[in-house]
Amino acid sequence: MTARDSSPVYVALDTPNLSEALRIGRAVAPHVGGLKVGLEFLTALGPDAVREIVALDLPVFADTKFHDIPNTVAGASRAIAALGAKIFNIHVSGGEAMMRAAKEAAASVDPAMKVIGVTVLTSMDDGVLESVGQKSPARDQVVRLAKLAKASGLDGVVCSPQEIALVREACGPGFLIVTPGVRPAGSDIADQKRVMTPAEAARAGADILVIGRPITAAADPARAAADIAASLKA
Ligand code: C5P
Repeated sequence: MTARDSSPVYVALDTPNLSEALRIGRAVAPHVGGLKVGLEFLTALGPDAVREIVALDLPVFADTKFHDIPNTVAGASRAIAALGAKIFNIHVSGGEAMMRAAKEAAASVDPAMKVIGVTVLTSMDDGVLESVGQKSPARDQVVRLAKLAKASGLDGVVCSPQEIALVREACGPGFLIVTPGVRPAGSDIADQKRVMTPAEAARAGADILVIGRPITAAADPARAAADIAASLKA
């Protein structure tokens, strides 16, 4: 097995510049498990750019965060599966019918496609949740939504490092846990508030670690990715 088959690290290519994304993707490819393209990339560069990232031959996670009526989300899910992404996500708060529609539509194009639920955005604290009519604390809401995602046939959820253990306990083994907010020891945490190191997040039970700037903004992204890979083996 090569390092990249076993690595849980997916590099977030958060840029509206395709050449930059391809340069970083090629540099880190030997050291990571996959690449993530998000809303900035998808909106600025479109489907052809996603195909170019898929052609780098690493699994691609499309961080689409779909949230609409079931019929519309089903159409978008077929479209993202047809581009060759291996994982994409939708908001669990869109409800069971929307999640089932997404999973079924994606599977009709690629039976192996993983559909992941976004629980509570880490930018939303208890006060923000209350302002939109959601009375329970963020942690309770994350667990409620993770259980609903599992019951609705999704393959896993996105949650913050602090919630990995809670979700693992609530949803059991085999349910994918994807976490951003991961920072190598001693690195700049930037705007991420609650962080764990890659090794801590993996130990807590995360399956996929989404890491952006600690790799993409490093002077040598390949070296940064290799160092993270080494820290996970230690
Ligand atoms: O650069 P950094 O490592 O903070 O990037 C983290 C990635 O994970 C970004 O693409 C960001 O959009 C994404 N993300 C996040 N927090 C969430 C959901 C996604 O940081 N709650």
